[in-house]
Amino acid sequence: MFDQVTRTNEQNIAVIEINNPPVNALGYAVRKGILDCLKVAEADDAVTAIVIIGSGRTFPAGADITEFGTVMKEPHLPEVIDHIESCSKPVVAALHGTALGGGFEIALGSHYRIADANARVGLPEVHLGLLPGAGGTQRLPRLCGAAFALDVMLKGTPISAKAAKDAGLIDRITKGDLRRAAITFANEVRTVRKTCDETSQLKDHAAYRADLAAAHKMITTRMKGQIAPLKIIACVEAILEKPFHEGRQLERQCFMDCMASDQSKGMIHAFFAERSSAKVPEASRAEPRILETLGVVGGGTMGAGITVAALNGGLPVTMIERDTESIARGRGNVEKVYDRLVAKGRMTTNEKNTLMTLYTGSTNYNDLSNVDMVIEAVFERLDVKRAVFEKLDKVIKPGAVLASNTSYLNIDSISSATKRPDQVIGLHFFSPANIMKLLEIVVPEQAADDVVATGFSLAKRLRKVPVRAGNATGFIGNRILGKYGVCAAHMMEDGATPYEIDNALLDFGYPMGIHAMYDLAGLDIGWDNRKAAAPTRDPDTRYVTIADRICENGWFGQKTGRGFYIYKDGARRGSHDPEVLSIIADIRSKKGITPKSFSATEIMERYLAAMVNEGCEVLREGVALKPSDIDVTFVYGYGFPRYRGGPMKYADMYGVQKMLTNIQKYEKEDPVFWKPSQLLVDMVAQGKEFEDLNKG
Ligand code: 3HC
Ligand code: NAI
Repeated sequence: MFDQVTRTNEQNIAVIEINNPPVNALGYAVRKGILDCLKVAEADDAVTAIVIIGSGRTFPAGADITEFGTVMKEPHLPEVIDHIESCSKPVVAALHGTALGGGFEIALGSHYRIADANARVGLPEVHLGLLPGAGGTQRLPRLCGAAFALDVMLKGTPISAKAAKDAGLIDRITKGDLRRAAITFANEVRTVRKTCDETSQLKDHAAYRADLAAAHKMITTRMKGQIAPLKIIACVEAILEKPFHEGRQLERQCFMDCMASDQSKGMIHAFFAERSSAKVPEASRAEPRILETLGVVGGGTMGAGITVAALNGGLPVTMIERDTESIARGRGNVEKVYDRLVAKGRMTTNEKNTLMTLYTGSTNYNDLSNVDMVIEAVFERLDVKRAVFEKLDKVIKPGAVLASNTSYLNIDSISSATKRPDQVIGLHFFSPANIMKLLEIVVPEQAADDVVATGFSLAKRLRKVPVRAGNATGFIGNRILGKYGVCAAHMMEDGATPYEIDNALLDFGYPMGIHAMYDLAGLDIGWDNRKAAAPTRDPDTRYVTIADRICENGWFGQKTGRGFYIYKDGARRGSHDPEVLSIIADIRSKKGITPKSFSATEIMERYLAAMVNEGCEVLREGVALKPSDIDVTFVYGYGFPRYRGGPMKYADMYGVQKMLTNIQKYEKEDPVFWKPSQLLVDMVAQGKEFEDLNKG
């Protein structure tokens, strides 16, 4: 018998309790423990019914993901659940916390389900590139119909106990002592129930098929290229055509296919990478400071977005702007976000008003004297930022944390305007800041550990995914973006159109191409940066003027209706612009370049090689602590398809040796741009891959 599962008889009810912190994942010991306890309870004449419950914070949150990719020992989860379902005594699953994946499948295989009112249930396997593999695809639709089941499995988002009860997935909701309530319930039930009724019991096949068709349509746009959603639909469809046991076989086969795919390897990597990015040395050495109030300086695009993120996280915000007109606009920017949600029916006016009570607008810096942290989001100009920090230094209390949302500037050159540079960090949010998950936490050398730890605690509060970045130009993300952006410009000058490049990116799984992204962000930003960098640019580097020429026409992207694409009548999706192609052709001919054609494969090989090579430099310089932090940065901040794990994980799967060979081939064309990173060269020489560096 294993310690992770215990059985106690409470008079005539056997209580099987799972105790495998932190989330009661269903590893070997738990599976075996449940099965053993079940057999003993079934054979015990004194027992009339059985309760399965989790101890600690949750009912099992799923299979043990760390076992995936290893040879899993029997009993496997489907077998355990089959035993539960075929048990001759009623089995009641008592759910609290997050009953997810295999955990919820245990509940679905049980005869009755009781849940704590705050419990959440769901089948999130799709986020790991998988499908429910222990009967979930077959039992769930039989209980609640195709539409609801498909929604639960394709979105993968946990639902509340109440929503689950309304859908027929939970029999009873309770508040307070779940164990006691479950024992009472188990005393009331007398019969075993089956969830695996045969297909004939499905009443309306036409409606079921219509739901399948709608789901299919949804995934072809929103989950394009992903394998698991297609397989989920195939398994749900099988319910119409196959008996339960055959549907189960199909589900198992699909599960194993997904498990063997690079997509699931990429997504499982992303799952652990996201959790490990928050584990930084500073946070392990120091406790975060108290963080109950926030100041935000600047109410423009970023200041307003950061404010919304903070208000949503329950943090009161004092926003400072330059003058009365600007603060009115700042408040307006915040309200606009909520008004859109109200218009879409995703928020009530009451909810908006409640959140806005946490907001104070001001033009007086003294109003920040009591806040615990200030985030500056004013114009990207060093003189302006320094002036703001000088003022902040005079008014904020000792112990308050100061942060800048700068995109590129060195934090030291900002913090030196204060007498407390050790209290200053960078907090680089992404636009729109209330939506984008990534938060780069920029750590200058002088920053105190507890100041850094407070940055990470803010991220948690705002439900952001934090990544620690060193204080170097562009940090992790924008630094690497700069490099592959230039690679795209080289390909454009050499013969690829911006539209071919964007299409290759879309096919790879990006939600938008890089040129569409530039148009969205505004081409003037990059233009300003290039002009500022011109005096120090190395004359040996290849410089492509296409974007400059576009900007010279006043075409700054979506906001001017024209950039790399044309946006007719305010359209958000651009169409191809023949004049942009003429500009490119003109530049090529002036440089004497004969355009060559690029396949989508070559475009992606070059693009990713530039990204990974610069990623290696970022690692070599210590700007990122580990490759998986770069993966997290690109998945959560730059649209890199999560199912490919991130650029460094992708490189491992593609083959680091092959990627180095590509770079060395490109180096022959342009030895300045394509200098292979020594880190990559050494790694290949030692037979290592990025995963080895993650472990190291
Ligand atoms: N297996 C192994 N470890 C797990 C795990 C799992 N299923 N779920 C969470 N963990 C680990 C995390 O890695 C983390 O470890 P760490 O402390 O060493 O970093 C720890 O548990 C706590 O997790 P979180 O930091 O994520 O804690 P939260 O409280 O923020 O979230 C949670 C809890 C909602 C349960 C979240 O962890 C989660 O979503 N887990 C994954 C759930 C899931 O995907 N289940 C399906 C698994 S696949 C499956 O069941 C297949 C089946 O159909 C056959
Ligand atoms: P913005 O121009 O929309 O807003 C800047 C705001 O700062 C304006 O409302 C202005 O009135 C205010 N401001 C200027 N000087 C001030 C002062 N002395 N005191 C108080 N308020 C002052 O700019 P945006 O886009 O919000 O950028 C802000 C910062 O965030 C910049 O450093 C930028 O590089 C960075 N950033 C921008 C991103 C983006 O996508 N826009 C993404 C990530 C970071």
